[in-house]
Amino acid sequence: MCVYVTSCEEQTEALAALLAEGSKPGDVLLLEGGLGAGKTAFVRGLARGLGADASEVSSPTFALLHIYPGRLTLCHFDLYRLGPGEAEELGFEEYFFGTGVCAVEWPDRAASLLSGARTRTVRLEGSGEDTRTIKLEGFDALPEPGRLLALGIRRAQ
Ligand SMILES: Nc1ncnc2c1ncn2[C@@H]1O[C@H](COP(=O)(O)OP(=O)(O)O)[C@@H](O)[C@H]1O
Ligand SMILES: [Mg+2]
Repeated sequence: MCVYVTSCEEQTEALAALLAEGSKPGDVLLLEGGLGAGKTAFVRGLARGLGADASEVSSPTFALLHIYPGRLTLCHFDLYRLGPGEAEELGFEEYFFGTGVCAVEWPDRAASLLSGARTRTVRLEGSGEDTRTIKLEGFDALPEPGRLLALGIRRAQ
């Protein structure tokens, strides 16, 4: 596991953008953390790193899925409102086992479907106008320390 500390939304976005540079087709990022933890901010950074239009990434939204074209297609899921068993009915496998990059907020709502996918976990902790601890698990490539330093992002572990 690798742990980073960001002190503002922009840093969280920048960290995600760096991670997106190393992402490959079929990557599924599970974004864990409570309301306001910064999951959507992280997805905005992923969009930027994939060359998609980050300004369109927003929350709250009533759509379960948004698709942003980029170097790789970014499939942004916000499953907060999904009921048990609904993910299967909606055919989300097509995306979870597809050729784009998936970023999934509230992945526990689709745990059984996601268990076979090529998942990496991003756990965001903290709330309010403050720092966030961001724990990464399962990533093949991590950002170069020098680039993080330039952005003011600290590595905690
Ligand atoms: N270090 C940080 N990283 C991300 N967001 C932060 C940070 N510090 C404060 N914030 C604020 O927290 C909120 C995160 O909102 P959002 O990304 O929509 O959360 P979520 O999608 O997890 O519900 C934003 O208002 C953002 O400005
Ligand atoms: Mg959100």
